[in-house]
Amino acid sequence: KLRTGLIGWRGMVGSVLMDRMKEEKDFDHIDPLFYSTSQAGQKAPDVGYDVPALADAYDLTSLKNMDAVICCQGGAYTEKVYPELRKAGWKGYWIDAASTLRMAPDSEIILDPVNRAVLDEALSKGVKTFAGGNCTVSLMLMGLGGLFENDAVEWLTSMTYQSASGAGARNMRELLLQMRELGAAAGADLDNPASAILDIDRRITAKLNDGDFPVDNFGAPLAGSLIPWIDKAVDDGQTKEEWKGFAETNKILRTKTPIEVDGICVRVGAMRCHSQALTIKLKKDIPLGDIEDMIQNGTDWSDLINNNKEDTLEYLSPAAVSGTLRVPVGRVRKMRMGGEYLSAFTVGDQLLWGAAEPLRRMMRIIVE
Ligand code: HSE
Repeated sequence: KLRTGLIGWRGMVGSVLMDRMKEEKDFDHIDPLFYSTSQAGQKAPDVGYDVPALADAYDLTSLKNMDAVICCQGGAYTEKVYPELRKAGWKGYWIDAASTLRMAPDSEIILDPVNRAVLDEALSKGVKTFAGGNCTVSLMLMGLGGLFENDAVEWLTSMTYQSASGAGARNMRELLLQMRELGAAAGADLDNPASAILDIDRRITAKLNDGDFPVDNFGAPLAGSLIPWIDKAVDDGQTKEEWKGFAETNKILRTKTPIEVDGICVRVGAMRCHSQALTIKLKKDIPLGDIEDMIQNGTDWSDLINNNKEDTLEYLSPAAVSGTLRVPVGRVRKMRMGGEYLSAFTVGDQLLWGAAEPLRRMMRIIVE
């Protein structure tokens, strides 16, 4: 059995990963050792097997004994420990949720439902470092995998509606705190249909802008508002989150000719599902029915949602998708600009396909 070190299993992504690993009986296939950066020696989590006490996540001697490490501890830990471990001659598999190693020349980005062939080739060449992709990129590819597989995409723009979870657990709490504050500002007037909505709205706007509104984590109101900036600035007015669209899509697919991907990334008040409005320039005018088939058949998790109001409201929203592995793609139609221009909208759970799921699946590919 693969001796597998699990690091960062207690955090938000790590907890989602643990749940999925239990559901899929992954622990039948590995010999797990749980690590902690602060509580070495304490009891390991219950995964249905006898497992040793928590090991120290900074103990290189212990880590060197692992055949594989699955890490959700965050970029700072990876930056510190990973190079030391490799320098010490460790040849195991490092599978990481953080962005630190994604663009390293000797790593691959894992999203096996769309790039299994890339991963198999990497494994056969002895690649040992695997990083989960950016959530937005992974979810876009999980939805549109079929279009890429059929080499139908010339370029695309993705305008995102990203959830609070992408910014972290504290941010999810802050969104809810903001909502509570706004509810309180509306007060009892909300229960009286005869009250003037513009009076309520004035109080809401005042609350959003008063100095007490809880914005420590987001830096601005999100509830009742939005934030069209995610992560830090890079070059030419792009944010890092927007930069990842092109860089990671092309690395995941290992495209020979790069496919242009660009757009604006926006934080909205959803909890854990990222949504994206896509404009796709097709390489040629493919009939809509064929496009729909490609999307539906792209991955086992992509679902084509009929472009009508009823189905859209029922299936194509964070509320409908949260906590599931489904990646619905709807609002699919040709645009006014011509037959090569396709419009689509997709939603996916940022913590599942966007973070935890590719990690456990890569582990299973390795033990196969
Ligand atoms: N960077 C993403 C976000 C989450 O802020 O939504 C992780 O990929």
